[in-house]
Amino acid sequence: MWDQLLIDVQAATAVPTADGFGLIPEAAIAIAGDRIAWVGSVKDLPAEPSTLAKAIHRGGGRLVTPGLIDCHTHLIFGGERSLEFDLRAQGVDYATIAAQGGGIRSTVRLTRELSAQALAEIALPRARALLADGVTTIEVKSGYGLDTASELKMLEAARLVGLALDVSIEPTLLALHALPRERADDRSGYVDEVIQELLPAVAERQLARAVDVFCEHIAFTVPECARVLQAARQLGLHVKVHADQLTDGGGAALAAQFGALSADHLEFTSTAGVQALAASGTVAVLLPGAFLMLGETRRPPIAALRAAGVPMAIATDLNPGSSPLNSLTLAITLARAQFGLTASEGFLGVTAHAARALGLSDRGQLGAGLRADLALWNVNHPRELGYWLGKPNCHSVWRGGRAIA
Ligand code: NIG
Ligand code: FE
Repeated sequence: MWDQLLIDVQAATAVPTADGFGLIPEAAIAIAGDRIAWVGSVKDLPAEPSTLAKAIHRGGGRLVTPGLIDCHTHLIFGGERSLEFDLRAQGVDYATIAAQGGGIRSTVRLTRELSAQALAEIALPRARALLADGVTTIEVKSGYGLDTASELKMLEAARLVGLALDVSIEPTLLALHALPRERADDRSGYVDEVIQELLPAVAERQLARAVDVFCEHIAFTVPECARVLQAARQLGLHVKVHADQLTDGGGAALAAQFGALSADHLEFTSTAGVQALAASGTVAVLLPGAFLMLGETRRPPIAALRAAGVPMAIATDLNPGSSPLNSLTLAITLARAQFGLTASEGFLGVTAHAARALGLSDRGQLGAGLRADLALWNVNHPRELGYWLGKPNCHSVWRGGRAIA
């Protein structure tokens, strides 16, 4: 006998079918422990529902999807940078603000001042807002510490959020984000320290599953990033790259070269970069919040990615500088409106493909054996998840078979 059985729902399983969503109109989902035990059409159940499980839940005809996955966030940070948004409105661009001491380095100052507990405390409302929007897994990057102790502190804060809230936190060490002010004259020494001190410290304590780098003219060069990615791979960590956001710096090709789980942003990625991603099986993570808030005009090469069969994921990139976007469903709508993704691409981008961008094979779809992370929605069709702008459609959220929101 199953523990729980959810009926009176329409399911979008994110398992590819001709409709693009894996729809099951009159679905039943059985749960055993924290896993899905069975998914199918209610008429294919082996017996009368009430005889099959200890608890029967009725979804009132709602849509059920996998719990959504936000596969790129900078959830942990001190302060905010609304003043910079105002400066950009007056014509000062992101790179200029960074060069003048604003940007990432200003968040670094505010983040270094706070304890792990304090950082977790101010991140909690942001994590709760994601959760209320159907998100059950949040990737969280460090990268506002820029010295070993402060980076470890950020990863500890991410862990504390996971303990305080019923949500899966997937920590990523953003090892190269910006050159800290105190190391302005010592680029190679800083990269050496990241490789010799920070990476081993994180690997030894198992504080992150992946290492990320910001490969961009205002951040780090391809050779600098390559050194760090190489070291990360040697430590057995996954890698990811912030690639080609502001210029075509060869970031996508770099990601592919190291078998990265994902290459993120990609506005300026060339055809060769797209081919490289396709060959390495790297997921393209689209970040429409940063595109919108930085007033970008150059779109990621969606048609080329699609034609090459590169899986596309969508994430909030939640951060105080380029993307203060605290809703993953809004991110889907923005990706669809700005980049022309189909409804199915939008849905897979926060479910199956987002799981792949994190190297997680136990979630992102509704299927037997996968985690029972579910979201129920007050909508008629999964298309609507990437249609409304800021309308709260999420009815309830389950994580590991337990109702959590
Ligand atoms: O993903 N591109 C680099 N990092 C962030 C921005 C961080 C910031 O501006 O504070 C991003 O957009
Ligand atoms: Fe980012």
